[in-house]
Amino acid sequence: MPGKNKLQRFAEMKDFKNTVEPKLKEIKGVTGEEKFKPHPMKGKWKNDFFQNPNPLVLELGCGKGEYSVGLGRKFPQKNFLGVDIKGARIYVGAKTALDEGLSNVGFLRTRIDFIDLFFETGEVDEIWITFPDPQLRKNRIRKRLTGKLFTDRYKKFLKPGGIIHLKTDNTTLYEYTLEEIEEHGFELVYETDNLYEKGITHFDEDVREILGIKTHYETLFSEQGFNIKYIKFKL
Ligand SMILES: C[S@@+](CC[C@H](N)C(=O)[O-])C[C@H]1O[C@@H](n2cnc3c(N)ncnc32)[C@H](O)[C@@H]1O
Repeated sequence: MPGKNKLQRFAEMKDFKNTVEPKLKEIKGVTGEEKFKPHPMKGKWKNDFFQNPNPLVLELGCGKGEYSVGLGRKFPQKNFLGVDIKGARIYVGAKTALDEGLSNVGFLRTRIDFIDLFFETGEVDEIWITFPDPQLRKNRIRKRLTGKLFTDRYKKFLKPGGIIHLKTDNTTLYEYTLEEIEEHGFELVYETDNLYEKGITHFDEDVREILGIKTHYETLFSEQGFNIKYIKFKL
């Protein structure tokens, strides 16, 4: 927001009712054996945070939260939670949701590496992964959000049959994700290597509107001429 520096935004965000910023001590284990422990909100997002029984959808690596906010506007009967480690980015989405009175949109500031500490079995209905870092260096491959290390974590809390959506500009990550789906026997529901040229016309108006939400990074990559890829799958 113009006129506010990072520290001012962080201070303001501490009072945001729609944002959870866990302290490390909330998830750090108390004994040497127990390295981490579940966060107090685990199993309680619907009752305590959103205060309704509606489905819960995550946006992982949400940045400024364009999908969480965009979907929240369109589906008031679902809850959307954007997850990212960068507070200055989350601030933008959280402030927009508050200003627009979107009580079904919230944000969680954490490393996604700890994501299974936050949700109970079957607590999450759907996951969006929007333009994640492709982690191209060899020693970073295990950090890819569609890799086995992460899908094993998602399995712990995603409802059976729950959909995962990936949008990316990156060919390596797109091909890697398709290989992961095949190797681990996940169910590929739909994929296209060029959403706006070859894919989006297959869908009805409603889905086109959803897939057409553009995040900050999608706008940047599209302007640079990258094709947008989209994969929809189940674990
Ligand atoms: C390329 S940006 C995309 C942001 C947004 N989804 C968009 O499309 O504009 C990737 C985002 O993922 C976040 N991220 C990457 N790895 C993460 C991790 N392990 N835990 C939490 N956030 C992560 C980064 O902080 C960053 O905001």
